[in-house]
Amino acid sequence: MFNSEKVIISSFWLIVSYYSAISQNLNYFEHIRPIIYENCVPCHQPGQAGPFSLLTYNDITIRSKMIQYVVSHRYMPPWKADPDYRHYLNERVLTDTEINLITEWISTGMSEGNKTKESLPVKRLYYKTVPDLTLTMAESYDIPNSNSDDFRFFHLPMNISELRYLRAIEFMPGNRRYVHHSRMMVDSTQNMSGIDGMSEFDPKIYEFQKTPLADEFLYGWVPGSFPLFFPDGVGKRLEPNADLILNIHYSPTGRNQKDQSTVNFYFTNKPVKREVKTLILRENDIINQPFYLPANQISNFTMKSKALEKDISMISVMPHMHFLGKYFESYAVTASKDTIPLIRINDWDFNWQTMYQFNHYLKIPEGSVIYAKARYDNTINNPMNQFIPPKNIGYGWRTVSEMMNLICYYVDYKKRDERHYFSTDTD
Ligand code: HEC
Repeated sequence: MFNSEKVIISSFWLIVSYYSAISQNLNYFEHIRPIIYENCVPCHQPGQAGPFSLLTYNDITIRSKMIQYVVSHRYMPPWKADPDYRHYLNERVLTDTEINLITEWISTGMSEGNKTKESLPVKRLYYKTVPDLTLTMAESYDIPNSNSDDFRFFHLPMNISELRYLRAIEFMPGNRRYVHHSRMMVDSTQNMSGIDGMSEFDPKIYEFQKTPLADEFLYGWVPGSFPLFFPDGVGKRLEPNADLILNIHYSPTGRNQKDQSTVNFYFTNKPVKREVKTLILRENDIINQPFYLPANQISNFTMKSKALEKDISMISVMPHMHFLGKYFESYAVTASKDTIPLIRINDWDFNWQTMYQFNHYLKIPEGSVIYAKARYDNTINNPMNQFIPPKNIGYGWRTVSEMMNLICYYVDYKKRDERHYFSTDTD
């Protein structure tokens, strides 16, 4: 017998005996609670986006059927990026072993185990230090009492007279239950105050859409997003006298609800040696123009960047589409034809879009070209289609139109960057 076979056979027996050892005494406190605290509790605790708390044994047992369903279908925790394509710092995905443990525990009677086990920290999603600048919506907004989604723009003057650099950005929804997602933009023309409180269905949005923004995507947030933060000596430039534009998507409420959301900025206190830059692929970069989605058709588009003029170190990626999007994939192809996977989303969900931060600086060498491919389904088979019968759809900010973007944050490459791992555990 070859050595490798021996290893395979003996590790197989190890796994089998590990499982049978556990299943004899599979219990909540020892096996299940740590998985739930790590992967579910950040959202499923009072005041967070999850519709109920999962802090106690009882919280789990009364919903066991539903929990078994959502974990085995990988519906929870929500995570859209394909983990077989690339892993990220903010990834929250259950392993097959964890799913098996949960489902086996539920189907074998949910033993509680030894209650005296020490308490676990209730993980929160937010940054720990005091922010340098807190921008809160000027007034609390009355979310309409309706059965449809509401999409609003808010204008928040920053009143900073000198150039600053950001080391972290965090979004704090005022109403955690009904703020569904938000996107932050920066304007330095000072011509956008009129957008404050405007619905995206207001035709005047077309005028604002013409303004070239200083930052089209400063940060994107969904429930469960980590704040984005940059390593020491690295920062994102914030122009003086700029204004923050918040685009917030509110879920249908069914009763009167208010929201007054906040954005926290943390400035760099160490000198910035490298500035975070943004590389955006947008509709103009599509090589099979026009960006137009005829009714009753599935459309595919490919965007392509220019060849990079120098080595870069990528920090994060964020794809953006609206309701008709189905699939998104992006990768870099180097001058020597190697492929570097960036992100793949096999079942795009408008409701769960966020920034994906790499585990470490991802080096993309000079001469590489970045590609992004997307598929849109503008047929009646797409349950997210807002128009039945389907309509011809073109480009626009509003969610009744479509977009195709890839937003990448990067810094110029420095030797050994790829060995620098990011951490969510900052002061
Ligand atoms: C990123 C935040 C987040 C995390 C992490 C998360 N959930 Fe959820 N969960 C939500 C939100 C928001 C909803 C309600 C919206 C929905 O159903 O999509 C929800 C809904 C649910 C539901 C109800 C589904 C339904 O159809 O009504 C169950 C059950 C659930 N979560 C269990 C879990 C479990 C178990 C975990 C961990 C393995 C988990 N969730 C992790 C945010 C989260």
